Amino acid sequence: MIERTFIMVKPDGVQRNLIGEIVARFEKKGFQLVGAKLMQVSRELAEQHYAEHKERPFFGELVDFITSGPVFAMVWEGENVIATARQMMGKTNPQEAAPGTIRGDYGLTVGKNVIHGSDSPESAEREIRLFFKEEELVDYSKLM
Ligand code: CMP
Repeated sequence: MIERTFIMVKPDGVQRNLIGEIVARFEKKGFQLVGAKLMQVSRELAEQHYAEHKERPFFGELVDFITSGPVFAMVWEGENVIATARQMMGKTNPQEAAPGTIRGDYGLTVGKNVIHGSDSPESAEREIRLFFKEEELVDYSKLM
């Protein structure tokens, strides 16, 4: 099924100049970029984005980190992109992520793990809506 997912290069990934490498992996895999922006996440947006982790002991750290510098937010489209993107990212903890995955190749700690991707169709829809306006997403369907 053709799906859309929300992918974000976190502040550590942007600072380490990994935007191009990460975009390239998704492009080469065959997915289509339908939205992208370099942006600073506000505390309000961070708290909404990570609402499901509100009770976790690391919630404060999570919000501090994601608001600490620019992130590169993207929407990718393609066949089964939600689950496939998660496979390409690897496990949340980079120490458990397989070599060849983005976190396995570039991450070191669970907090600074380079990239975020939606974990389900419901969170993809919610996160895309949270970060992007409809008019910020492009339409390739009329390409000639
Ligand atoms: P992400 O996919 O962005 O969603 C929630 C994030 O919480 C996760 O990536 C990790 O970066 C972060 N996280 C998970 N466990 C911990 C932890 N024990 N300490 C700090 N951050 C964590």
